Amino acid sequence: MSKTILVTGGAGFIGTHTCIKLIESGFDVLVLDNFSNSSPESLKRAESITGHSIPFIEGDINDAALLDEIFAQHAIDVVIHFAGLKSVGESVQQPLRYYHNNVSGTLVLCDAMQRAGVKNLVFSSSATVYGDPASLPIGEDFPTSAINPYGRSKLMIEELLADLYRADPEWNIALLRYFNPVGAHPSGLIGEDPAGIPNNLMPYIAQVAVGRRAHLTVFGGDYPTPDGTGVRDYIHVMDLAAGHVQALLWLEHRRGIKAFNLGTGQGYSVLDMLKAFEQACGKSLPYQLAERRPGDVASCYADPQLAAKELNWRAELDVQAMCADAWRWQSENPDGY
Ligand code: NAD
Ligand code: UFG
Repeated sequence: MSKTILVTGGAGFIGTHTCIKLIESGFDVLVLDNFSNSSPESLKRAESITGHSIPFIEGDINDAALLDEIFAQHAIDVVIHFAGLKSVGESVQQPLRYYHNNVSGTLVLCDAMQRAGVKNLVFSSSATVYGDPASLPIGEDFPTSAINPYGRSKLMIEELLADLYRADPEWNIALLRYFNPVGAHPSGLIGEDPAGIPNNLMPYIAQVAVGRRAHLTVFGGDYPTPDGTGVRDYIHVMDLAAGHVQALLWLEHRRGIKAFNLGTGQGYSVLDMLKAFEQACGKSLPYQLAERRPGDVASCYADPQLAAKELNWRAELDVQAMCADAWRWQSENPDGY
């Protein structure tokens, strides 16, 4: 019998792409999303890509009664927990909202899972938990720290999940630390659709390419990197989605809690990404150099060997594929969903 996966935040950017990979891998999927940063349209499109219906419940992970009802009515095997707010700047302005949504929401979810006896969890963590790394590439055993409420919410959740496991070793938890997810499904039907002005590099570049923004502002040209601009480990969202399928397979025969980096292990600068996007869209894209953005690190890229060894997972898609797929999505859906 196929396993049923409850996907919180399954209508979001990474969630929809992961639902597709899950369905293609033979899992049954049930989405719980409050649509605070998404809409049912993304799920409709994922349905047309897979040819399968994707059942969803509109609701909040902070709603304990709703969660009890979901676990009573569906034989859930594993929860993949994407639901969360993710804007660093917003988290500085509205810390309580971030802690309430991300940290309390995870507590309410874990409580309901415990009541229902569902103790298999895949959690969306972030490379942000490494703070400013002392060296590169970053291994999972590096010290963790946080410099903003968003990052702190991820770190608090990782720590509370570790406590949960210590108290009850029946829990089985994969902490997936994503580096910089970009790209889109190759169909061009789904992709990243940020509300308002994009905070992140790739959606911003894509909006410049499609004519929604005049130019890219490059935050900092004086970092100790080859061209002076910030270096990151960009990972195609389809590779990231595949990493979740591998994490589910890992949970089937391992007990415990473990953190895995999901990255390519390659660092690319802001200007590298701009050039790659110019090639993908066939236009030259204007940019202006500006001051560093507060809180940014110079360079951040993963050592992805643990995921290769234990999850049997490696990123396969390169920067050209990331840009080509992001451009297909953006050019065919200039205003998003
Ligand atoms: P997203 O905003 O596109 O998706 C998150 C989804 O969760 C949205 O559909 C939103 O409506 C839903 N949601 C938020 N709060 C909820 C709540 N209380 N109850 C129910 N649904 C709720 O973001 P994403 O990029 O797909 O990120 C998914 C996860 O991965 C997040 O936890 C994020 O912090 C983490 N992450 C993202 C990145 C990135 O750069 N995109 C990097 C590292 C980690
Ligand atoms: N950048 C620009 N101009 C922009 C946007 C970004 O120059 O308009 C630069 C940044 O300064 C940085 C790089 O592009 O050097 C990448 O910035 P992003 O905002 O795209 O990504 P970050 O590495 O800052 O952060 C992202 C997510 C975090 C997550 C982190 C690690 O936003 O939530 O990756 O996974 F924690």
